[in-house]
Amino acid sequence: MSTTVQPKCKGTCPAQTIASASTPLAPDQPAPCEMRCAGGALELVRLCAISDIPRSRIKAVDIGQLTLAVYNVDGEFFVTDNRCTHGEASLADGMLEDDVIECALHGGAFNVRTGEVVYRPCTKPLRTYKVIVEAGDIFVDLQQTAQD
Ligand code: FES
Repeated sequence: MSTTVQPKCKGTCPAQTIASASTPLAPDQPAPCEMRCAGGALELVRLCAISDIPRSRIKAVDIGQLTLAVYNVDGEFFVTDNRCTHGEASLADGMLEDDVIECALHGGAFNVRTGEVVYRPCTKPLRTYKVIVEAGDIFVDLQQTAQD
């Protein structure tokens, strides 16, 4: 006899956190999640086609209640939160130079590979996401960072 183990949500997915924040849940009630990741089991989310983002360009993509920024760095793709950690600014409106995104609002900057702050006034790192490119499409794993 086999036993099926239901995966439990790790509670680390930002979309899950946002989706459940507006609805109080009983302690044993599974949280609803728009991302349908099967409770923490990996389900990659398609963001766009690689042809949608020319070299050195950025595209903002809405996924559930998240907005992500997708960067093309010389044919390599990286994904971060789109919102600058310093304020209410869309990083997709910023300037991408090599692997550094400069925020259009105050000129702070982050490395899109690691999320590390490159220039102040930003002090808090940017969240990154694991990217998988397959068959001409860009997918993201919301449960993992680029370093996982
Ligand atoms: Fe991005 Fe201030 S909002 S640097």
